[in-house]
Amino acid sequence: MTTDTPQPPRIDTSKAHPARVYDWLLGGKDNYPVDEAVGEMLPPQARDGARQNRAFMHRAAAYLAEQGIDQFLDIGTGIPTEPNLHQVVQRVLPSAKVVYADNDPIVLRHAEALLVSDPAGATDYIQADVRTPDEIVRHARHVLDFDRPVALSLIALMHFITDEQDAHGIVRRLVGTLAPGSHLVLTHAAIDLYPELAEQVITQYAKGGIRLAFRTRAEVARFFDGLELVPPGLVTTTQWYASGPVPEPEVDGIYAAVARIP
Ligand SMILES: C[S@@+](CC[C@H](N)C(=O)[O-])C[C@H]1O[C@@H](n2cnc3c(N)ncnc32)[C@H](O)[C@@H]1O
Repeated sequence: MTTDTPQPPRIDTSKAHPARVYDWLLGGKDNYPVDEAVGEMLPPQARDGARQNRAFMHRAAAYLAEQGIDQFLDIGTGIPTEPNLHQVVQRVLPSAKVVYADNDPIVLRHAEALLVSDPAGATDYIQADVRTPDEIVRHARHVLDFDRPVALSLIALMHFITDEQDAHGIVRRLVGTLAPGSHLVLTHAAIDLYPELAEQVITQYAKGGIRLAFRTRAEVARFFDGLELVPPGLVTTTQWYASGPVPEPEVDGIYAAVARIP
């Protein structure tokens, strides 16, 4: 039966979801006991990793806005957690436009928080899977001008996509739609920095029914093939700083980089 009244997105609380486990790791409230059960079993460094990853997103997004980038396509957005990407970039450029995409219905349920844009700019939200990149770009074109630079942000997303699902091909396809001067911002959990911790995380997520594809530095570097890495290059989230003092070394198992599309 169809109805004119939009139905709220159906949330499956019987199994863990990446967005909700991440919300739990960040200390959020938009998660369920199944998600908490996975989070509780993770090594304590996982919470640090979520915080470090989110802080990198803030620095990288602000950096790009300071470079004049005023269009952002953020895939794998997560449950809104202030400040969200559009709040960071619109502080620098109020007219910035941001399109968000995530495949989890719980993000759709909370999407209003992502849609409160500065009146000078715009935000939009698409419920979509990164494995359908053409569909995402087709929707994003309603808001973003792909003839001008766009920052594509894939933050803590691609380690949910396996090689069989063609993780590198998907990123290549998305990057291929972007104009010169666009940027790719990507973070990705490492398998080779703290291998024992990484294996524990993979095992606990698998128990919750979530498959992870953590990668080596060389495998993560391949996402940036043909692009110009912005200094300091491909490092870990805490080692990437656009301005301000050089950060103190921290245990940090997530690779991060910003790169320019030539
Ligand atoms: C670890 S969270 C990261 C959230 C946010 N990008 C950040 O770094 O703060 C990963 C997000 O990717 C989303 N995700 C996982 N697989 C996806 C897919 N195939 N397509 C779109 N989004 C996906 C999850 O729903 C979740 O919201």
